[in-house]
Amino acid sequence: MRSRRACNDAATLTTNHEPMTQRVLTGITTTGTPHLGNYVGAIRPAITASREPGVESFFFLADYHALIKCDEPARIERSRLEIAATWLAAGLDPARVTFYRQSDIVEIPELTWLLTCVASKGLMNRAHAYKAAADANLAAGEDVDAGITMGLFSYPILMAADILMFNAHRVPVGRDQVQHIEMARDLAQRFNHLFGAGRELFVLPEANVDERVAMLPGLDGRKMSKSYDNTVPLFEGGAKGLRDAIAHVVTDSRAPGEAKDPDNSHLVAIYEAFADDAERAALRAELRAGMGWGDAKARVVARIERDLGPLRERYAELIAHPERIEATLLEGARKARAVAAPFLGELRVAVGLRPMVAVAAPVLATPKAKAALPSFKQYREADGRFYFKLAAADGRVLLQSAAFESGREAGQWVAKLKTAGAMAVPDAPVAHGEGVSAQDVADALAALSAG
Ligand code: TRP
Repeated sequence: MRSRRACNDAATLTTNHEPMTQRVLTGITTTGTPHLGNYVGAIRPAITASREPGVESFFFLADYHALIKCDEPARIERSRLEIAATWLAAGLDPARVTFYRQSDIVEIPELTWLLTCVASKGLMNRAHAYKAAADANLAAGEDVDAGITMGLFSYPILMAADILMFNAHRVPVGRDQVQHIEMARDLAQRFNHLFGAGRELFVLPEANVDERVAMLPGLDGRKMSKSYDNTVPLFEGGAKGLRDAIAHVVTDSRAPGEAKDPDNSHLVAIYEAFADDAERAALRAELRAGMGWGDAKARVVARIERDLGPLRERYAELIAHPERIEATLLEGARKARAVAAPFLGELRVAVGLRPMVAVAAPVLATPKAKAALPSFKQYREADGRFYFKLAAADGRVLLQSAAFESGREAGQWVAKLKTAGAMAVPDAPVAHGEGVSAQDVADALAALSAG
């Protein structure tokens, strides 16, 4: 378990002479058929990263997450098959990568519960997916939680369990998932603080967003997403399906011969997710020189097809043999559980779910004196305005607020910082104390919420 303790920060890296293994982990929700956006934004970069030396990759089908969004068993079943076939066709090497189904890892729901017990509800209220649904309800004059399941509400906790179960260092995701990774960090920090007894039980994961391709635009220019119905299929419909979809990419109405602006074309953005630098420069120059959109689309289709054609053949072969995919996934689950099961055993012990054995000393330890905690102090200055600060146990000022017109406002910020922890700091009207790092503040807030 060297990789777990070793490496939360660069400082440990430099003192460690052994080559460090970086764990990279990502999941893909099994509700739909993979489209070009999934390939460019998640599958392809993850597979590329899995081939780097010193990288140990965990890729999985997030089928428990799928149940949150979909109550059609046939769709879940079909999607799991298609997504597994897609990853394998795209070049994932199951001998190199641990490739599994989330639902085959019984340790994940158990860890989800351990994390649920340290997750602050206030933090979960801020999760984008839940907040969007709640806001839509309010806008429609409905009860705030109408139609919202506990699955949706707890989505980030299940995702944190996916990540923390394997102590992933890096999590390649789209930008829309970054908040979830931050929540996983926050939960890891709290758990470490509460139960680590000085040890870093969990690695604090980091999101990896490839800014260039993370948000592939769809047919209408918005993010390519099934929910916008603007996707380009990956393998479905063959080469013809690809051509038909690209034909529907919206362009402006400039005629052949007129100069086009490549910077404002999502057709160009799609092309550039596949093209190399020379190809990019060439298409841009030709568009500026008046290339017609029809010709540009033909160029885009040909370029994508060059990459995807061979993969499509492998995909068809795999879909025709689901039993091979099943065997591959079961072998992946075996490898994953060989990591997860002993680790979960340690975590159970850490929280107090321990075997009952005879001990010489009294079983109930006398409660130890609580370590002195950091604290928030609210006060009013001679200027009549209200302030607060976060002070360390030794009195050092960690955070100093701006002035508020009312004590209530100051109190609301204090409450927010207490519930949401480090995540609330960037938005809060506070300055760090002299020489105080973001990590100092995060630790203090985690200590407070645990205390
Ligand atoms: N929520 C992710 C998505 O919708 C899928 C996912 C589930 C995931 N668990 C994960 C991604 C863990 C990365 C790590 O895209």
